[in-house]
Amino acid sequence: MSAKSKAAFVCSACQHQEPKWLGRCPECGSWNSFREEVSAAAPRSPVRGEDRQSVPLAAIETREGLRLDAGIAEVNRVLGGGIMKGSAVLIAGEPGTGKSTLMLQLAARIQTKGRTLYVSGEESPAQIRLRAERLAVAGEQIEVFPGTELSAVLRACDRIKPVVLIVDSIQTVYSEDIGTVPGTVNQVRLCGQELIDWAKTRGAALFLVGHVTKEGYIAGPKVLEHLVDTVLYFETGSSGIRLLRAVKNRFGTVDEIGIFQMGDAGLAQVENPAALFLTRREGELPPGVVAAPVHEGTRVLLVEIQSLVVPAKGGISRVFSDRIDAGRVSRMAAVLEKHLKARLADQDLYVNVGGGLRVAEVGIELPLAIALYSARLNQPVPALTAVVGEVSLAGELRPVPHLDRRARAVAEMSFTRLVYPAGGELKAAPPGLGLRAAATIAEAVRACFAPASPGAA
Ligand code: TYD
Ligand code: MG
Repeated sequence: MSAKSKAAFVCSACQHQEPKWLGRCPECGSWNSFREEVSAAAPRSPVRGEDRQSVPLAAIETREGLRLDAGIAEVNRVLGGGIMKGSAVLIAGEPGTGKSTLMLQLAARIQTKGRTLYVSGEESPAQIRLRAERLAVAGEQIEVFPGTELSAVLRACDRIKPVVLIVDSIQTVYSEDIGTVPGTVNQVRLCGQELIDWAKTRGAALFLVGHVTKEGYIAGPKVLEHLVDTVLYFETGSSGIRLLRAVKNRFGTVDEIGIFQMGDAGLAQVENPAALFLTRREGELPPGVVAAPVHEGTRVLLVEIQSLVVPAKGGISRVFSDRIDAGRVSRMAAVLEKHLKARLADQDLYVNVGGGLRVAEVGIELPLAIALYSARLNQPVPALTAVVGEVSLAGELRPVPHLDRRARAVAEMSFTRLVYPAGGELKAAPPGLGLRAAATIAEAVRACFAPASPGAA
């Protein structure tokens, strides 16, 4: 690429690049968002790991010895069994989610004799101290560094030699080599890479905090997703619930979620989250509401799907669903139209999940379909009925894994009936739970809406 054609201006809202400055971004429409970028093609120290030695594979330490106990079980869970030394974690979330709170609690509880360096560009040391007092965390091993110029940060790292390095946030760090405006794509990329290099060569665990905009876009830090080992999203549910979710993890699975409750003393772990997303009701349920045992990571969570079906204005159906994929909602609506003659094509469909949990597993399909059907017919599903299963376009049900564990979780919450796909291996019914296997969506509807008869199988 010739020097001339190289993009020199980048939109700070969407990272769109232009060779010339523009008042308005042609990509996202933001005004006055273009910033000049000095090319980061030549970083200060070209290849840091050049003089590293190769090692025999058998001599490499095993992973377990390389993990630190976070001191917070939910964080260990999401990271796949603790914090890997020499790894880089990006923790991204909207402002106000509690990223700084989590980082400070983590800094205080992490099980290491070494020191933790908290680089803060967002808050003054006094503010961090006040927060620490509020959270009642002991901070003997925590050092706070208020500078944000990269070389100063790296010098502090060399001096303090932290085992855990927290940078809050990466958008506030800048390298004078490429300008003084923090938060640009080049700054985030260069500073992120240098900090990652520092942590990797010293075997320290690095946490980079990144802000996400309301639309879920990681402005700037998006470029870091490829550089780090693990990307965690910290999300806000309803009534103080916070969800920590791995979207990339080189050292573990990505389907575990960590669940916290934000309170007066900061973030508390939720010990038994099985019923956290369930609304307890006396007597009948409203139409459109269905309970489902979903399997997230290694846990079963009972969630409540809520749906509302109302005539569409102008006759064009729309789907409003941000906790369950909207495409999946449309698909279930189509299945109901075709196989149960439910008229949904001229209706607006609103779908929500209690507690604000995002659910991606396929087992949510049958309960979702039943919720839409119940809402359309304005007929409630009998109370204490739980539903799970995958639905094919042909209206057949497909078995879901971990059926035994789901059934147990449902029974523990005193449900009396579980409707699930036939063919799923379920050894024995937990006491008090009636099991209703169904092969098709039509059978499932019959099984769900049949009058309740507690205990009957
Ligand atoms: P914070 O960690 O500053 O969020 P972030 O770094 O992601 O922007 O936490 C923000 C919110 O958390 C703030 O609105 C106040 C609330 N909060 C509590 O409710 N209890 C607490 O003990 C603390 C420290 C914060
Ligand atoms: Mg913060």
